[in-house]
Amino acid sequence: MVNITINGVSLSVPENSTVLQAAKNAGIEIPTLCFLKEYNEIGACRICLVEIKGYDRLAPACNTTVEEGMVINTRSARVIEARRINLQLLMAQHDQNCLSCVRSENCKLQQLCNDENITTQPFEKDFEPFEWNTNWTLIRDASKCVKCMRCVSICDQVQANHAWTIKGTGKRTTVAPSFNTEGAPDMRCALCGQCITHCPTGALTARDDCDKVFDAIADESKTVVVQIAPSVRTAWGSAFGLTPEESDIDLLAAALKQAGVDYVFSTDFSADLTIMEEGSEFLELFTSGKTTEAPLFTSCCPGWVRYVNSHFPQTARHLSTAKSPQQMLGALIKSYFAEQQGIDPETIYSVSIMPCVAKKSECAREDFTDACGDPDVDVVLTTREVGRLLKRKNIDVANLEPIELDQPMQDYTGAGTIFGATGGVMEAALRSAYFLATKTNADPDAFKEVRATKETRVLPWREATFDIEDNTVRVAIASGLGNAEELVNAIEAGEVHYDFVEIMACPGGCVGGGGQPIVMDCEMAESREEVLRRLDSTCKLRRSHDNPDITKIYENFLGTPLSHKAHDLLHTH
Ligand code: SF4
Ligand code: SF4
Ligand code: SF4
Ligand code: FES
Repeated sequence: MVNITINGVSLSVPENSTVLQAAKNAGIEIPTLCFLKEYNEIGACRICLVEIKGYDRLAPACNTTVEEGMVINTRSARVIEARRINLQLLMAQHDQNCLSCVRSENCKLQQLCNDENITTQPFEKDFEPFEWNTNWTLIRDASKCVKCMRCVSICDQVQANHAWTIKGTGKRTTVAPSFNTEGAPDMRCALCGQCITHCPTGALTARDDCDKVFDAIADESKTVVVQIAPSVRTAWGSAFGLTPEESDIDLLAAALKQAGVDYVFSTDFSADLTIMEEGSEFLELFTSGKTTEAPLFTSCCPGWVRYVNSHFPQTARHLSTAKSPQQMLGALIKSYFAEQQGIDPETIYSVSIMPCVAKKSECAREDFTDACGDPDVDVVLTTREVGRLLKRKNIDVANLEPIELDQPMQDYTGAGTIFGATGGVMEAALRSAYFLATKTNADPDAFKEVRATKETRVLPWREATFDIEDNTVRVAIASGLGNAEELVNAIEAGEVHYDFVEIMACPGGCVGGGGQPIVMDCEMAESREEVLRRLDSTCKLRRSHDNPDITKIYENFLGTPLSHKAHDLLHTH
């Protein structure tokens, strides 16, 4: 331990602590901007400066290590003045249009300027010129970049994509796409959105598609049909001050109907359908011995699909042919649902509400269209956007009564719900694969080894084996693309072998998705996962094959899993 003094308080702190950590443990907050624990401790912004007795210069608390006898002042007049000047210098290079910025009220720079009571701007304005294709899914506004380099660190260290790089020197140092100069990182970006959720300002955002939904609602010739992804329910209510318990899917359905939407379904239903299709595909490959050559990889995460196609084309050949739950439900809304309701599919406007940025790009894939060539899903709104849409419609969410989802794809199971968390797809698949192989049900918690625990969360991937009849199934699960890279490298090198592999691009799975509400300096995936796990454990149906609406859709429309029609609508080929 090391003895130090902070603001006159004597403390004994662990060796090698930073001043920031030592102060935090003692309940003393030091403002930060660029600091991102473990990933970005580069001391770039100089907002966390502190005065240390005997030091000529102020020191950044986030990357200064404590020393025996150190006397630190975090609130001296010199510290406060330096922080103020550093903020004013940032403001001079910043397009301060807070009134039209999606990060207003959730922006670190804005918060710091408010906290420091900055009301004057002594330095001349000097924005960085930039161009960007604002039709692309991921948008960078260089005039709001504070050069903290968090995006570079997250993309390099967590997501192994290396899509951002640092360009220029001195005052002109900036962040730019690594792989082209045309204003978008293009194919080498997985569109996971993790750089957006870790950006402290509005410099990185996802394209806002709310206007498209507004226009569709206003167009009386259109039937607006919405689907809501499993993990949206863990987070959408935060925009209205609701807890996850208060903001279940039935309340969001009521709010959307008030906003003018015609029908609301849950993507949990098509997650159950994905299990029937992908589980059957897996069993076919497994029982014919094909998974001894290479595992079947899940394909429900478009961030992972983009990544594997661009980084590991050999492995991409082993992706499941099943479409993602979003695309399956989109295809069924414009076929099965339209047929049942007698609605012309061309008049349906299909909207997905997703925790995901990559799904905005997935729905625009040319192969995800119906017989008329129209997209199966017309537009994707992130969880953040649905909050903005409901606010713009002045919906009094807190005082609404929840309503039931619409027929004929109303039911869902706990297995569909846990799709939103790492390990959830695998657990749901194993529950049904066991039934399909043995015609008996295993306990729904029999496969809980695939869930992330405190111990396994820090590993690049986790693995488990299960005996189904006389066969042993070897599975692996990874979330975060850096972890996926390690796992795929090990599989391609023949160091490990599995039959079935689940990969989610976002750390923790969709609960930590790039389209979820941003909680500054907080990783929310774990607590949101607990919400989904609780919903699963209390759901009266916990196995996808027990979903009565799934039984009906096979009986009345699709035939059997992997039938010709199922392949046509629910698989990529
Ligand atoms: S990034 Fe922050 S400070 Fe800049 S315009 Fe947006 S809200 Fe305002
Ligand atoms: S969206 Fe993901 S892959 Fe793309 S630049 Fe951001 S962190 Fe990197
Ligand atoms: S993990 Fe989920 S939120 Fe993240 S890219 Fe994949 S599907 Fe989208
Ligand atoms: S937070 Fe310490 S230098 Fe940026």
